[in-house]
Amino acid sequence: MEIKNAKFISSIADYGEFSGVGLPQIAVVGKSNVGKSSLINALCKQNKLCRTSSTPGKTRLINIFEVTLYDEQTEQKFHLIDLPGYGYAKVNYAEKIKWGEMMERYFSTSPYIRSILHLVDIRHEPTQDDIAMSDFMRNSAIPFSVVATKADKISRGARMKHIAPICRGLKVQPWEILPFSSETKDGRMELIQLLHKNITE
Ligand code: GTP
Ligand code: MG
Repeated sequence: MEIKNAKFISSIADYGEFSGVGLPQIAVVGKSNVGKSSLINALCKQNKLCRTSSTPGKTRLINIFEVTLYDEQTEQKFHLIDLPGYGYAKVNYAEKIKWGEMMERYFSTSPYIRSILHLVDIRHEPTQDDIAMSDFMRNSAIPFSVVATKADKISRGARMKHIAPICRGLKVQPWEILPFSSETKDGRMELIQLLHKNITE
């Protein structure tokens, strides 16, 4: 499996503005600055597909990309949805409420959503916001996978030590966590397999 033809479709402020076109959708969620936009760029091997930034809160809109997965036998298009990050300290209370409502609308109204990639930084214990996000997805019965980003920031030998507290916080098993690095593209092939499975099942 590989990816080709990733293209930007649209930026919207609210999911209600996007009717979808019947393609399966995979959403990317996580704390602000965790590496959502970088993961999409690394996955699609296009550095400028998504705007990334070292300043948290860069992605304030829902960005929709159309991606084609292919191998010798098949070709499958899907929509990758880059959602605004949560837990950004400079966001005021009203904006936080708005964010939550937007998320709820998205997750409750999109008939095409197949799964969510929940990104957490491999170096840090899950925050209260991460845990709330995880509980929300579990309660909505939407399948999700945990991706531990910035795996290049720690040694391979230290991975398990970092994954254990993530497992405890998010109540998942170690083998359910996919270490990923947008810098080295470590975990990219595993992620492509996971997406393929989510889309075709
Ligand atoms: P928001 O749009 O603000 O929610 O952030 P985001 O989750 O889209 O994060 P973004 O991809 O913009 O990355 C934030 C910062 O982390 C940038 O400075 C990236 O270069 C850096 N970064 C992202 N992924 C990785 C990674 O795998 N390894 C390393 N070393 N840095 C990364
Ligand atoms: Mg972003």
